[in-house]
Amino acid sequence: MTQLPGLLDVEAIRKDFPILDRQVHDGQKLVYLDNAATSQKPRQVLDALSEYYERYNANVHRGVHVLAEEATALYEGARDKVAAFINAPSRDEVIFTKNASESLNLVANMLGWADEPYRVDAETEIVITEMEHHSNIVPWQLLAQRTGAKLKWFGLTDDGRLDLSNIDEIITEKTKIVSFVLVSNILGTVNPVEAIVRRAQEVGALVCIDASQAAPHMPLDVQALQADFVAFTGHKMCGPTGIGVLWGRQELLEDLPPFLGGGEMIETVSMHSSTYAPAPHKFEAGTPPIAQAVGLGAAIDYLNSIGMDKILAHEHALTEYAVRKLNEVPDLRIIGPTTAEDRGAAISFTLGDIHPHDVGQVLDEQGIAVRVGHHCARPVCLRYGIPATTRASFYLYSTPAEIDALVEGLEHVRNFFG
Ligand SMILES: Cc1ncc(COP(=O)(O)O)c(C=O)c1O
Repeated sequence: MTQLPGLLDVEAIRKDFPILDRQVHDGQKLVYLDNAATSQKPRQVLDALSEYYERYNANVHRGVHVLAEEATALYEGARDKVAAFINAPSRDEVIFTKNASESLNLVANMLGWADEPYRVDAETEIVITEMEHHSNIVPWQLLAQRTGAKLKWFGLTDDGRLDLSNIDEIITEKTKIVSFVLVSNILGTVNPVEAIVRRAQEVGALVCIDASQAAPHMPLDVQALQADFVAFTGHKMCGPTGIGVLWGRQELLEDLPPFLGGGEMIETVSMHSSTYAPAPHKFEAGTPPIAQAVGLGAAIDYLNSIGMDKILAHEHALTEYAVRKLNEVPDLRIIGPTTAEDRGAAISFTLGDIHPHDVGQVLDEQGIAVRVGHHCARPVCLRYGIPATTRASFYLYSTPAEIDALVEGLEHVRNFFG
């Protein structure tokens, strides 16, 4: 087996993920390279979910009985774990949502309904980038359409980086919010947070960071990022689906209005008006994703037991290896940075004129699961003049042997299509 410096003890880790033993298509070994779409779940998370339902299930916060108190302690305990994982100054800054999309929509809606100085209106501008996931484009388009605000964005360089050459014209005194992705899900690019945050702070704009492809793969420190909001999603980081996080700075969460109304988010209600609970509950209307939060807490314990620094080093070694091997495949063009520098472990490519859907299908017949399409980042495909890409993405349980299998699989694809 290929050995690379920095790799984790993958043999041991893979034992925690029952699904990785699966065979597909009558005996093909599963090679799961679709981790940017969703990660697999370790037994520790699966056990935490079933234990929750078997022993503690109850609605949270309102009950006085034992189960309600235990379920509340587990749910709020998960909030503590998330706060520590991202180095949040306070647990009250951690809002549970259903996914990153909901977290980003929440920020856009808070700002749409806010009073000055946060209010987004026809006199103001919103800044995003051309490499955003649709989840960080559409909520801002909706906000711009509703308020008359102008939507602006950073373009991309030919090698898949943000073009910040005109940063002073893009982020101006009119900018109210700059929202951008930390690690691109389609290009793999790791973005230069500091330069963007510095300029945003100069003009007094808020900063929202989409960390969906960062939180699973590297240490995340919201204080070091100096952002105002950070969004991510549980299912990409070994947690269950149905749970996301929005971290926001405390004073902002105190000042900004709620978006969804309902139970749990109120202090008092009369037929004429209501007052709201303090954050984070002000932003968590209705029965929250309790089991999912518990599962996310277990996922964080699991990732911590391995170490986020070590996961980052493992993926970096794999990415270096994969980029080198893929660059050797004839007719293959990486869409995004072609070296492992400032790059995450999602690698998109085209293979000659073969349509990515055909590439994906022939790989699937060999048991290799990749993603094909525009990866919910269609403007990136438009920018590079391609209809779609094939994307391979790695995680803490991925191996060099799986990259070799991908490269061999691509050879079959090339032979198959002549
Ligand atoms: C960068 C990025 N942002 C946002 C999302 C949306 O995550 P979710 O579908 O869990 O809301 C994704 C998911 O692919 C993503 O990769």
